[in-house]
Amino acid sequence: TEPLTPPRHIVLVGFMGTGKSTVARILAQRGGFEAVDVDAEIVEREGRAIPELFAQFGEDYFRAAETDALRSVMGRAVHQVVATGGGAVLRPENRALMANGGLVVALIATAEQIIARVSQDKGRPLLQGNLEERVHKLLSERRTAYDFAPVRIDTTGLNAEEVAEAIWDAWL
Ligand code: S3P
Repeated sequence: TEPLTPPRHIVLVGFMGTGKSTVARILAQRGGFEAVDVDAEIVEREGRAIPELFAQFGEDYFRAAETDALRSVMGRAVHQVVATGGGAVLRPENRALMANGGLVVALIATAEQIIARVSQDKGRPLLQGNLEERVHKLLSERRTAYDFAPVRIDTTGLNAEEVAEAIWDAWL
């Protein structure tokens, strides 16, 4: 008999605005995987939007909910492309959940690209205030946060389709 092999998810990590959710949907469609978004999972489990969770309960509460949601997602017995929140890589526990459950792929973008992509969107509590300042500060704090990913994709000059293509061609 064949040994049972655990399902291997594709886990997308990267700073806010690097295109994780969009790329996850494209990859999932292409490979017949499910696409899952950990942020959406948190909102569903908590019954509150992310800005509300930060405002009412604080970041530590959000991070705990994020770890719970990530553990639940990673434990599912179907192949998934998992889009994580930009800060999901901060907890060692989360990095272990990701690395043990699948192939972790980091999407890398410049501050300028990130600012352009997130500027329309008001749903990110950590980017309130001066957007440029916030992005540069968080990027410098998280400079090495994505280094644990065995696959890193420089998204400069690529649209989401092309990023998905690059991951597919090289790794799937
Ligand atoms: C966060 C990123 C967000 C969301 C929350 C915190 C972060 O996800 O989880 O606002 O700490 O970088 P996206 O990367 O999908 O914006």
